[in-house]
Amino acid sequence: MTENNPNALGLTPDPQLLAAAKAAFAQAYAPYSKFHVGAALRTPDGQVFSGANVENASYGLGRCAEQSAVQAMATTGARTFTDLVVYAESSPPASPCGACRQVLYEFAPDARVVCVNAEGEVLSGLVRDFLPHGFRLEEREDGHGVGTE
Ligand code: THU
Repeated sequence: MTENNPNALGLTPDPQLLAAAKAAFAQAYAPYSKFHVGAALRTPDGQVFSGANVENASYGLGRCAEQSAVQAMATTGARTFTDLVVYAESSPPASPCGACRQVLYEFAPDARVVCVNAEGEVLSGLVRDFLPHGFRLEEREDGHGVGTE
């Protein structure tokens, strides 16, 4: 993922995840921005979780599609994922916002991210490419966390 080549990794959207992301996109609740986004991710054991953006009249409470998908995953007890597809109908494709990047990084710094639109334009990279030097807390024996890269 570079400015010159947004698909430097040469990734293409996984068909199953793309279908799930499109299905979520169709259910997005975005009456304020009118900008629908769908996301779908796969865990290492093959489970697929999806999410759409869900907005609110109190604008700041809106939830992005990527975060909805991560919430769906984590709620089942799953704790990481290998691949994420983000679908929107913008050009260039919708790129995860800063807050989403941190949420993705919490569970899967090495996951592949493929953002794609209806024309098949792709923006891709690893989660850690989208969030260089991301913040994590690593559990210590005393229960306190330490910040790591
Ligand atoms: N949005 C997402 O859900 N994911 C993205 O990657 C970009 C933005 C949502 C947030 C808001 O509901 C709408 O798109 C417009 O910003």
